[in-house]
Amino acid sequence: EKEFTLIMIKPDGVRSGDSGKILARIEQEGFKIRAMKRVRLSLEQAQQFYSVHAARPFYGELCSFMASGPVVAAILERDNAVQHWRDVIGATDPAEAAPNTIRKLYAKSKGENAVHGSDSVENAKIEAAFFFSGLELAGQ
Ligand code: CMP
Repeated sequence: EKEFTLIMIKPDGVRSGDSGKILARIEQEGFKIRAMKRVRLSLEQAQQFYSVHAARPFYGELCSFMASGPVVAAILERDNAVQHWRDVIGATDPAEAAPNTIRKLYAKSKGENAVHGSDSVENAKIEAAFFFSGLELAGQ
């Protein structure tokens, strides 16, 4: 069944020039890019996006990293989109990520790990609304 997920290419992935390869992989995996933008988050916006992690010890580091440069945010459509994207990106820590996953190929560390993916359909809706207006999604 058709499903949506919200993904980001994080600042390290954009900075290292891997956006194009990651976008090509997205299409190879059968996702349709339904919306996409390149934006630099303010620290306050990064804190809002990651507010569920506010109590974690790495929250400050995570938010300052996510505000350190532009990200590419996109809404992807596919059967089983949330889980399939999580399979394609691999484990949070690239040292633990399976061969040929995006994080194994492009991530540097647990913090600078190249890409984000929503962890549920419910969170995908919340995260999509963070980046995209109803107008940008209309008529697709
Ligand atoms: P993601 O799953 O996209 O969202 C939460 C992020 O927190 C996660 O990616 C990692 O990038 C980051 N994260 C998790 N663990 C650590 C850690 N120990 N140190 C720094 N960042 C982390």
